Amino acid sequence: MSDQASVPNHHAQHPGFSGFSGLVAALSMAAGRGGDARLAGRLTGLSRGDVVVDLGCGPGAAARYAASLGASVTGVDPAAVMLRTARLLTAHRREVRYIEGVAEALPLPEASATVVWSLATVHHWTDLDAGLREVHRVLRDGGRFVAIERHTQAGARGLASHGWTEAQAATFAELCRNLGFVNITTSKHTEGRRSTVSVLATRP
Ligand SMILES: C[S@@+](CC[C@H](N)C(=O)[O-])C[C@H]1O[C@@H](n2cnc3c(N)ncnc32)[C@H](O)[C@@H]1O
Repeated sequence: MSDQASVPNHHAQHPGFSGFSGLVAALSMAAGRGGDARLAGRLTGLSRGDVVVDLGCGPGAAARYAASLGASVTGVDPAAVMLRTARLLTAHRREVRYIEGVAEALPLPEASATVVWSLATVHHWTDLDAGLREVHRVLRDGGRFVAIERHTQAGARGLASHGWTEAQAATFAELCRNLGFVNITTSKHTEGRRSTVSVLATRP
């Protein structure tokens, strides 16, 4: 068994979101994610005119937030139930589109984005190197990538383990460095009762 204490995608075996439980999960993620979206916007310096990919977008809360700042946004997610919910909740915003896909094989052209956000999803990716190569490919030169995960404690089980310890964030930062990203910063944040860790990186 791998050392879960430092593996950033320790929930890669998750069966995926579908059916009634997937819909409940989608609805539960549709609200209350504003803190992560605001943090992603602040860390990546998002501004009007940015072209954002919200990778693992779920029901689209962060995608809608990015659009509210003037960005055009593509939300990507493998779960049909997430995409259906996201489209329903985003019907009023023409600058957001949603497409089915996974981090490891992004259905997007190279150099098509200025910013990629991955919020609470990297812990589910099946292949971190492949996902990071894809993020690198779709970003333009100077493009910013941020991954944000709930801060979890080593040894946590069940739902409490969905996120990253600081060691898992550090491992992910090292992978970003190995894959050619620069200006890599790992930080811890607290807003109210929620603590998160982030890894911010730039495509040179
Ligand atoms: C906990 S949810 C977070 C959703 C959203 N980013 C948020 O913060 O509300 C994790 C999301 O990652 C998606 N996901 C799982 N594996 C993925 C992969 N390999 N590539 C991209 N997204 C993935 C899931 O379908 C799910 O919507």
